Amino acid sequence: MAKLKRIARRGEKALRKIVTRPAARARQRAHAREQTDWQRQGAAFADTWLSPGRCARSDDDNPLRAFFNARTEGRGIWKWDHYFDVYHRHLQRFRGNEVHILEIGIYSGGSLDMWHDYFGPHCHVYGVDTQEECLRYQSDSTSVFIGDQADRDFWRRFRTEVPKLDVVVDDGGHQPHQQATSLEELLPHLQPGGVYIVEDLHSIGNRFVAYVSGLIQTLNAYRGIADHANPERRKVSEAAGFQSSIESIHSYPYAAVIEKRREPLAEFVSPKHGTEWEPFLR
Ligand SMILES: C[S@@+](CC[C@H](N)C(=O)[O-])C[C@H]1O[C@@H](n2cnc3c(N)ncnc32)[C@H](O)[C@@H]1O
Repeated sequence: MAKLKRIARRGEKALRKIVTRPAARARQRAHAREQTDWQRQGAAFADTWLSPGRCARSDDDNPLRAFFNARTEGRGIWKWDHYFDVYHRHLQRFRGNEVHILEIGIYSGGSLDMWHDYFGPHCHVYGVDTQEECLRYQSDSTSVFIGDQADRDFWRRFRTEVPKLDVVVDDGGHQPHQQATSLEELLPHLQPGGVYIVEDLHSIGNRFVAYVSGLIQTLNAYRGIADHANPERRKVSEAAGFQSSIESIHSYPYAAVIEKRREPLAEFVSPKHGTEWEPFLR
């Protein structure tokens, strides 16, 4: 009898899978279609904007652009001009402090000079490139590693030699699989409060941008618990692992910036303060 019951239970379970799995898959497909429709709507709206034309730009308020513009000879630097504004916005708080910065992609060494000039005498610059020639840019305050940013074993070795990193600038091979591998190997290793920058995300449909939008979806996950009796905990959402260490993700033309929290966060709370409330919302 017990055996019969067990067989019946197994049959029920198998039947439930057959009925619910296609329904779940259909829901997922509908959700994916809906996401694509919303993306298309956003892109269509963005396409309606007209360009105001060229704007004059000044050096004065950006030490990185000033350094770049003054580099008329010597070791070459190759950057999109608007990156200097992105860098300065996210990195200025590190200036003058002990900071450990890695740039993936050394090329002719000039950007390593730029980081030294920007962050000051207490910074250590690390550079990674596939090309052995880049070893010539090594110095007391600059360490050069030769390796492929798409190689997870390379990063495992790198992490043992570089236990502390505050900033990563990925200006290497620019292929999505290289960018994703480097990010997966280095973002967890970055210090609290650290900044991770990925460059050259050109073109609509860029696959690494799609990867970043997956990170953004996770950053927006909501696991809410409502406590209606307590105005301080009127809405609470438990922070998932990624949310507890990542503070923000920023998207710029051809670049993405991820900032880590200085302290891990356990939950998001949305308290209500005040005593007078309109009746139309609960
Ligand atoms: C655009 S250049 C870097 C420019 C430099 N950061 C600057 O600002 O002047 C790209 C560099 O990435 C290196 N690179 C290409 N593929 C790589 C990979 N898979 N891993 C590490 N470096 C790579 C190239 O050898 C080249 O030196």
